[in-house]
Amino acid sequence: MERLSAEAHLCHGDLDRALTREELIDGVRDVEGLICLLTDQIDAEVLDAAGNLKVVSNYAVGYNNIDVDAATQRNVAVTNTPGVLTDCTADMAWALLMASARRVTEGDRLVRSGQWTGWEPLQMLGAEVTGATIGMVGFGRIAKAMAKRALAFDMRVRYWNRTRLTVAEERELGVEYRALDELLGESDFVSIHVALSDQTRHLIGKPQLEKMKPTATLINTARGAVVDEAALVEALREGKIARAGLDVFEREPTVHPELLTLPNVVLAPHLGSATVQTRTRMGELAIENCLAACRGERPPHLVNP
Ligand code: DGY
Repeated sequence: MERLSAEAHLCHGDLDRALTREELIDGVRDVEGLICLLTDQIDAEVLDAAGNLKVVSNYAVGYNNIDVDAATQRNVAVTNTPGVLTDCTADMAWALLMASARRVTEGDRLVRSGQWTGWEPLQMLGAEVTGATIGMVGFGRIAKAMAKRALAFDMRVRYWNRTRLTVAEERELGVEYRALDELLGESDFVSIHVALSDQTRHLIGKPQLEKMKPTATLINTARGAVVDEAALVEALREGKIARAGLDVFEREPTVHPELLTLPNVVLAPHLGSATVQTRTRMGELAIENCLAACRGERPPHLVNP
C-alpha cells in the first residue's frame, strides 16, 4: 500500500476483504488501474463502468474471474502473478496429499473427541505414499514443482497436458506422458493443475472419477470447477475413489454440504498461496503490472492475447 500510494492516488484498498459488487462498480468509475482479487468478477458491466481503465491487475495467477476478451475489446490490459506462488502452492498440494493419505485430520478429530482408546494394529490404515504413482492433470509450473516433491518420495510421476514435453524434457524431469484416461486409471494419487476455462470446466466428472482406482486419492489446488463437485461427492460416498484433499471448491465459499460430512476428505479454505512471503511477492507483482500499464508501458505479466 505504501509503494502504491507513493505513485498513485488510491481508492478503497484499506479493507481486508473482497468488495461487494456495488462497491466494486462504484469504485472503478474513475480509476486507470484496478488491482483485484480472484473473488472479484470483472466482466463487461464492471469494465463499462470504468471508462478510464487501462489495466486489470489480478492478485492471483489464475484469472478465470476476468472476462479477458471483453477487456481486450475495450483495450484494457489484464495481468496476473505467475511464478511467485509456484512452490507455495505445490507445498499445499503436498500437504493435502500427505494429510489425506495418512488420515491426519481424521486422526486429529479422533484424538480431540476423547474416544481414542489406544494403539491398534488396524486402526486408521492409510495409503503408502513412498513408491506410489502420481498423475498430474496439467503440467505447468506448479505441477512440475509437485513432481519434484513426488520424485523425492520415490514416486512414479505421470502427467497429462494439452501439449506434450519433448522426450528429452520428460527424461530430464523424470516423468512420463499418459493420455488422461490412462493416467486416471494408473495413478494412486491424481493432482489437478490446470487453469479453469471453458475447456477444463468439469474436466474431472463422473466418467473420469469412475476410471480412477478405488484406492486412489484426488488432490485439487487449482480451481474447484475443474471437478464436478456433485460427482466427486458421489464417488467419495460410494467408495469409487478412496479419498480427496481439496483446497478449492466449485462455488467458493459455499462447499457442497455432503463434503462437510464425509470423513475421507481433507478440506482447506483456498490456502495455496497463503504464506506471508508469497502473498507479499504477489502484491509486488500486482503493483508492478498495474503501474507499468498506467505509465503506458507493457506490463511484465500481460495475459491478453
Ligand atoms: C491463484 O493465484 O490463482 C491462487 O488460486 C490464489 O492463491
